[in-house]
Amino acid sequence: MREQLGTVVSSMEGPSPSSVDFVVNEGKAHKGMFAELEYSEGTMMLLVEDVIKTNRYFERPDSVKVIGAELEKNFPAAEWEFLIAKAKPLGVFTENGIQRTTFPPSPGSKVFLADNERIKKFLNLQTDGLNLGRLQFHDVELKVNLSRLLQKHLAIVATSGAGKSYFISVLLEELLSRKKEQGQIGVVVIDTHGEYTCFGEPIKQSESKTFQDFSSKTKIIDGSKIRIACSKVHIGMISQIVELSPNQRRELSKIFHKLNDEMRSGAGPFDLNAVRAEIENVDNEKTAASLHGVVSELEDLNLFGKIDEPGIIDFVKPGQLLVIDLNSLTSEKKKQVIVAYLSGKLFHERRSPSKKIPPFALFVEEAHNFIPEGTAAEHAVARSSLRTIAREGRKFGASLVVISQRPKRLDTTTLANCNTNIILRVTNPYDLKHIAESCEGIDSSTERAISSLRVGEAIVVGEAVGSPTFFKVRLRKSQPSRHETTLEDSARAFALGEEKKDEEVNSFL
Ligand SMILES: Nc1ncnc2c1ncn2[C@@H]1O[C@H](COP(=O)(O)OP(=O)(O)O)[C@@H](O)[C@H]1O
Ligand SMILES: [Mg+2]
Repeated sequence: MREQLGTVVSSMEGPSPSSVDFVVNEGKAHKGMFAELEYSEGTMMLLVEDVIKTNRYFERPDSVKVIGAELEKNFPAAEWEFLIAKAKPLGVFTENGIQRTTFPPSPGSKVFLADNERIKKFLNLQTDGLNLGRLQFHDVELKVNLSRLLQKHLAIVATSGAGKSYFISVLLEELLSRKKEQGQIGVVVIDTHGEYTCFGEPIKQSESKTFQDFSSKTKIIDGSKIRIACSKVHIGMISQIVELSPNQRRELSKIFHKLNDEMRSGAGPFDLNAVRAEIENVDNEKTAASLHGVVSELEDLNLFGKIDEPGIIDFVKPGQLLVIDLNSLTSEKKKQVIVAYLSGKLFHERRSPSKKIPPFALFVEEAHNFIPEGTAAEHAVARSSLRTIAREGRKFGASLVVISQRPKRLDTTTLANCNTNIILRVTNPYDLKHIAESCEGIDSSTERAISSLRVGEAIVVGEAVGSPTFFKVRLRKSQPSRHETTLEDSARAFALGEEKKDEEVNSFL
């Protein structure tokens, strides 16, 4: 049985192919609900954009003021209250598939709650898609197609605390749970706060019923242990780390060329000590001295060695998660160099004919730090390689997922290449405006709705679904990060720790 909602009314603007108002005479219509009606062209799918209550008795302020409280006693005012739903036609299901609406329905047409199967079809949802949550007002799981969601890149934006990391965990679970025949991709996460290392921790026996164990599918790499082979360092990268004069640049290029040539002819990999030794041979003493300074700065990063360690490429496997934990690093520069090197390498592997790694998705938390808008190139070391993935990745199975609480500070080129956006609550008006401008399909009413979303509620816009869709993120299955303690809990833990110390001191005395 179809659930009837109401009847199309004749109004100033419609019904037209772009606007249909209906009076709600049964059930309840909510903003964000999908509805449908039958007419000459087929079944029209509608999105309720607003619901308004009206009452003719309360239309005139002067009479409301005069009669006021008496009104309801003497007139059947309550019976004259109407709920009007303002709906936008999204498309028409016809014999030839889903078409644009080009013809209006008649006033008087009956409007129904949209059929679940039709909603799924309209939003391109799939039975075996990635289950991100549940649609608001409908018993429909948001199971999106993998390619539609990721191939043309994904941006996840929201105010801090709105549930981005929680949502990412849900998405990771879905990616790790795919079967071979569904297509598994490699997943790499740049984890700036160590929020995803919990995926790598085995679930305790006592909690095995509560949480799903992903530890066998997860590899964690501690960012402070990462080393980049000197032979892979090119002068462009160095000049982004340390400012080089033309002289320094020329001499250093020569040295790296020489050492690389020697390595190829059997001398083995080299490190920064070898570079220092070569600097001794530079004729100009002043340049030599300054080059020692350059090498010192590179050494300070504690990042360059003889070989790449660990061999990151070996851990990018279908259906597996690689977490690059940058939480312990304090140097912004070092984080950026790691991300630049890693993303460049991943993309290179996908572009090369040998393809040593499967198609992958690279998740970048705090993306505004790595792909900032407007910042000079030397302060945004990772920007160009991430931008390259955003621009060219889809042809090579290299997907980017950027996560940020400051979309306004995110590189516009990258953001424009993210064909799907998932937006959780955003309160900053500048960020909100920026999102509305950069995402197609966000009008002022959706913009207002975004600022009033609650934690875990989101809207998905773009390629992944046909039409902007509100949903509630599903509950996570993996164990939550230990970083998620409340202030009360940390205060208690601190107090307990202090008490212990006191006891120890007392027993010592
Ligand atoms: N969908 C959700 N369901 C339940 N709790 C959630 C949900 N999303 C977020 N939370 C909780 O809200 C808090 C903030 O979420 P988090 O994902 O860390 O936000 P963000 O990464 O946007 O700063 C966390 O304690 C998290 O457990
Ligand atoms: Mg977060």
